[in-house]
Amino acid sequence: MSAEGQPILEIWGRASLRGEVQISGAKNSALVLMAGALLCPGDCRLRNVPSLVDITRMSQILTALGVKLNQNNDVLEIDARQINPTKAPYDVVSQLRASFFVIGPLLTRLGMARVPLPGGCAIGARPVDLHVRGLQAMGANVRIESGMVHANVTGKNGKLKGAKIYLDYPSVGATETLIMAATLAEGETKIENAAQEPEVVDLANFCCQMGARISGAGTNTIVITGVEQLHSVNYAVIPDRIEAGTFLVAGAITHSEISLAPVIPQHLAPVIAKLHEMGCRVVTQERDRLQIIPGELRATDIETLPYPGFPTDMQAQFMALLSLSEGDSAISETVFENRFRHAAELNRMGADIRLKGNHALIRGVPFLSGAPVMATDLRASAALVLAGLAAEGKTIVQGLHHLDRGYDNLEGKLQQLGAKLQRINPQSRAEDFRRS
Ligand code: EPZ
Repeated sequence: MSAEGQPILEIWGRASLRGEVQISGAKNSALVLMAGALLCPGDCRLRNVPSLVDITRMSQILTALGVKLNQNNDVLEIDARQINPTKAPYDVVSQLRASFFVIGPLLTRLGMARVPLPGGCAIGARPVDLHVRGLQAMGANVRIESGMVHANVTGKNGKLKGAKIYLDYPSVGATETLIMAATLAEGETKIENAAQEPEVVDLANFCCQMGARISGAGTNTIVITGVEQLHSVNYAVIPDRIEAGTFLVAGAITHSEISLAPVIPQHLAPVIAKLHEMGCRVVTQERDRLQIIPGELRATDIETLPYPGFPTDMQAQFMALLSLSEGDSAISETVFENRFRHAAELNRMGADIRLKGNHALIRGVPFLSGAPVMATDLRASAALVLAGLAAEGKTIVQGLHHLDRGYDNLEGKLQQLGAKLQRINPQSRAEDFRRS
């Protein structure tokens, strides 16, 4: 649809923020926990679920599979007693890659699954070969035909078998798929070179509360011993470390002192370390509150890595911040192959960023100028909002459907902190046009 048919975000720059912002539940945990609920032939309650388009899409996928869902604010009641493993709808899967997470639970609980192969997205090809090879190692037959992944388990009792699996890359999604698949498999599964992200640990804790036997989550070796059946659970999703990191950058880029809660400070260790290097201070108050104290921004270098390295999901936000930092910085994006599309939009605002392969060379400038810019993916949209808060004048951000996938009421939370921005919907824009 053409841009004029879409809402825009109008941001007035040189914002000064103050106060405290509430951090929502983690998108990248809630999505996989929703898939994990398929493991249990009973009721699961998920609390602290963020209000996001991606969550709505995952709910549509589960409903299509026969799950009964009831959402009440941030509480999701999931009844997966009756499910059909072949009904994941292509049109929704194509918009939500995370829907592929259903393959592990369906396969291990029912012995078969038919899930559309997720496509790529703006930041990369996003293959699922590590997921598939791991499931094959556990005894699954997997074939891909006309964009559909057909998987089934042969053998007399139709159960997956525990296996020793080495991941060529510590893929978050592949680790999570294989943890879920192994919970009901026969025998022991050992995942080596596993992802260590907090969302992987959250999934392991969720599955253990359902009666699964998992050890080593959060390290690079995870051992799962299969059990017969899992039972109901009432579980709270961890706070979103990327939303929290985004607000820390909002404080740093507008030279504002703000607090955020709840957070798990350890999950933000690499982000906090970089902010300290750049001249800011981040103070932990009580157990689950952070306060950022801004400083004169200095250049630094960043390399995105699997956890506990610097998170790729914070790369775009830091590129905006480094654009206004004194000196020359370099960012190396080692996780995804095409995650620099926000650079051109930041340059339209006066940033000085040059790209060379998976490196971005950033020369700090004294100020950015507001401009109409186009978001290209989820974290790029956040970076453009942050740049607009700091810039001189007005910034118009288009492509808000990216933002709405992964941030729970970002503009409302920023308005509460004193930022001047508003979402303008197409019909009101058309009325303004007619009146003008
Ligand atoms: C998860 O994606 C997150 N999404 C991403 O967040 C996050 O950027 C990423 O982990 C890395 O931390 C969710 O959790 C829903 P990967 P995922 O598998 O699981 C390659 C956001 O902005 N790879 O760790 O897809 C892959 O191509 C999103 O919230 C294979 O080659 O990430 C990539 O280069 C963006 N084969 C690298 O591994 C596979 O089978 C890391 O991908 C799987 C992955």
